[in-house]
Amino acid sequence: MQKTFLMLKPDAVQRSLIGEIISRFERKGLKLVSLKLMQVDRKLAEEHYKEHKGKAFFEPTVEYIISSPIVAMVWEGKNVVSLAREMMGATNPANAASGSIRGSYAVDISRNIIHGSDSVESAEREIALYFKPEEILAYDKAGDSWLSE
Ligand code: GTP
Ligand code: MG
Repeated sequence: MQKTFLMLKPDAVQRSLIGEIISRFERKGLKLVSLKLMQVDRKLAEEHYKEHKGKAFFEPTVEYIISSPIVAMVWEGKNVVSLAREMMGATNPANAASGSIRGSYAVDISRNIIHGSDSVESAEREIALYFKPEEILAYDKAGDSWLSE
């Protein structure tokens, strides 16, 4: 089953939105297979966002991510990579659909609440950055058989 890496950024933690956002993914029918509250260091943040190195927002984004704890998660489900991005909404909350996570809880691109992998390849890279293989759990949930044919 496909997996994605999601991060509740420091603003989500500071604004007490952890439960609210996790609930959305749970209720959608996705499966949480790993989760940790952690402080990201500069080295990890720079590695995570390395595709943006050289851009004006790179340094402020790294500073933001390391400013306070984050929640790192791996979620599993059918087409979970694109599904989670859809649920998150556009990068800039000003353009995010109003019912999406960024559309519901954020107003500014530099404090946009959540990160989600943008492809299956990115998900594999990011999961490996934040988790050891043995931290990703495989388990059955009672409702699994009610999610698809
Ligand atoms: P992530 O899920 O966080 O990777 O966001 P994304 O994939 O929707 O956007 P992208 O990878 O292009 O940008 C990574 C992050 O850098 C964004 O989530 C923002 O926090 C920040 N960012 C991107 N573009 C801008 C920008 O133009 N200005 C500012 N201030 N921040 C930006
Ligand atoms: Mg991105």
